Amino acid sequence: MRASFVLLPGDGIGPEVTAGAHKVLRAVARTYGHDFEFDWRPVGGIAIDEFGDPLPLSTLEACRSADAIILGAVGGPKWDDPDAKTRPEAGLLALRKELDLFANLRPITAHRQLIDASPLRRDLIEGVDILFFRELTGGIYFGDSSLSEDGRVAQSVMEYSVGEIERIVRMAAGAARERRNRLSSVDKANVLEVSRLWRRVAARVMSEEFPDVDYEVVLVDAMAMHLISRPRDFDVVVTGNLFGDILTDEGSMLPGSLGMLPSASLGEEQPGLYEPIHGSAPDIAGQDLANPLATILAAAMALRHSVGLADEAAAVERAVDSVLDSGMRTKDIAAGGKFFGTEAMGDAVAEAVAGSAA
Ligand code: IPM
Ligand code: MG
Repeated sequence: MRASFVLLPGDGIGPEVTAGAHKVLRAVARTYGHDFEFDWRPVGGIAIDEFGDPLPLSTLEACRSADAIILGAVGGPKWDDPDAKTRPEAGLLALRKELDLFANLRPITAHRQLIDASPLRRDLIEGVDILFFRELTGGIYFGDSSLSEDGRVAQSVMEYSVGEIERIVRMAAGAARERRNRLSSVDKANVLEVSRLWRRVAARVMSEEFPDVDYEVVLVDAMAMHLISRPRDFDVVVTGNLFGDILTDEGSMLPGSLGMLPSASLGEEQPGLYEPIHGSAPDIAGQDLANPLATILAAAMALRHSVGLADEAAAVERAVDSVLDSGMRTKDIAAGGKFFGTEAMGDAVAEAVAGSAA
């Protein structure tokens, strides 16, 4: 199989963790006889420095013609000036919007080897397996926004159309069918008109097209509590852009290892965009301290969702599992004990992939 990847290392620890994913993808290609092409492009702060634009046209065009895009992280204090013309994050938002990547999948799973890294008790966390579908190209992130001339009043509008709600609910409900057949839709329908539309449209899609899927609605503030008090009860969760941004950061703390969590952003067509949930961590950048496993697991999601190589994706996931079983840890998950560097961790997973072909 031939496949082309665009790699967008970005800023901070982005280049180091992306290098880990690259290593593992090359191991997959060698081991399973595929032909993967890699095209490295700038995005985020480094692209602002080089091109004055966090998403240069050449990067966007390379992305459009790839099968899958893997991104490290964007942002850092260097580009944090509130008066700057543009910000690294704008590159990521533009990429999502330009490629119409309306569905952001964020799996929250507690790796059994790392349960004790969770801030929650083991009995609450064991067996947690949630898949968030966060709407990614609409809502308050992309609604009208303005600042009054005197600078004393600002507004950002949360807007959703029927079509935008239908497509994300459909995708989430379809995924629920492949899992434990439960979908929770999260909104703020007791206050917001936009949430009342969300709720009506979601209910109609579910009753007409997914009557077999166990469906519930949850208010976003209550969801913030339930995620901590009974996280095992959730299977697939679908919600809007801002609520999803907040709830998935909360959810990412459940397994106690932000460095382990990948995400995928998908549209109706390819390519998808795959990235770790964590940020650019400028404080540890360039020191071989970052955990590359989230980006490596994101590469596995790319193999599954964009390249059609589900077996190879599973092989990467098993390789990560076996490296964790061997006791190898990066600093963030070492609980103060002995730890290995970013490079060593990437090498270990690549070797485990190579050893996985029977
Ligand atoms: C995320 C991030 C982004 C977002 C930022 C970097 C713009 O927090 O992917 O969750 O808010 O969507
Ligand atoms: Mg976020």
